[in-house]
Amino acid sequence: MTATRIDGKAFAATIRDRVAQHVTRLKEDHGITPGLAVVLVGEDPASQVYVRNKGKQTHEAGMQSFEHRLPDDTPEADLLALVETLNGDPAVHGILVQLPLPGHIDAEKVINTIDPAKDVDGFHILNVGLLGTGQKSMVPCTPLGCLMMLREHHGTLSGLEAVVIGRSNIVGKPMAQLLLGESCTVTVAHSRTRDLAETVRRADIVIAAVGRPEMVPGDWIKPGATVIDVGINRVPAPEKGEGKTRLVGDCDFESCAEVAGAITPVPGGVGPMTIACLLANTVTACCRAQGIAEPEGLTV
Ligand code: GUN
Repeated sequence: MTATRIDGKAFAATIRDRVAQHVTRLKEDHGITPGLAVVLVGEDPASQVYVRNKGKQTHEAGMQSFEHRLPDDTPEADLLALVETLNGDPAVHGILVQLPLPGHIDAEKVINTIDPAKDVDGFHILNVGLLGTGQKSMVPCTPLGCLMMLREHHGTLSGLEAVVIGRSNIVGKPMAQLLLGESCTVTVAHSRTRDLAETVRRADIVIAAVGRPEMVPGDWIKPGATVIDVGINRVPAPEKGEGKTRLVGDCDFESCAEVAGAITPVPGGVGPMTIACLLANTVTACCRAQGIAEPEGLTV
């Protein structure tokens, strides 16, 4: 391996420390405790793990955590009513409705019912539009974490060629907007891109966000490029024993690390940054709601 390993776990701990310091200041100077409400509908095991981690880290940062677990067959109207209640609750500064939602619920309708000022996911159509036009918005947590790592590693990103693989609303599209905001030349590649290997070979920065295990091999990577691997894929690991699994990214770590200048590992790269950025967004939302100066280093 020749690439520098970008340690998302350590960087996320730094962000969480910054968040905790700001929370202490908000309590001591303003008598306010930031609050995050997380809504989970159904029993999806991966979502349950994420929601538990979010609640735990919210508490550890000194904030209030409000968890709402609803059954899988919750009517859409009940979920919308809960979101409206949270919108009106002054103790709640951030609202996150865990996705995916059960098929009978219109996720877009739910997201667009969240008060944009409390939309710590940055998925509300108003925040999407603000980000797309370069205005102050709530920024989606995973792309925000990726950008923080890129800035930390590179300093300025101006003029660099960036290729984002994946065009999801959660990662690919907002990531592309953020990189444009940093004056990168941005290409968004996806499943229909004709020559993906050649496209990726142009990139000084590769963001892999497709959800396909180890899809990007080292020979797609330009020597010295920075690789940010957003994928978190669980695959069988028979070498660890029968029925065992391991986590891998969207990039083949071994071969990419031979060529790249820097790379994020999976696990321990983008993953820990996402929840740290959720906490950061909650503090940002709280400060904006109260008209208090926004803390440095928690958003872009
Ligand atoms: N499910 C997977 N990622 C996310 C995320 O960033 N936000 C929400 N609300 N749900 C998710």
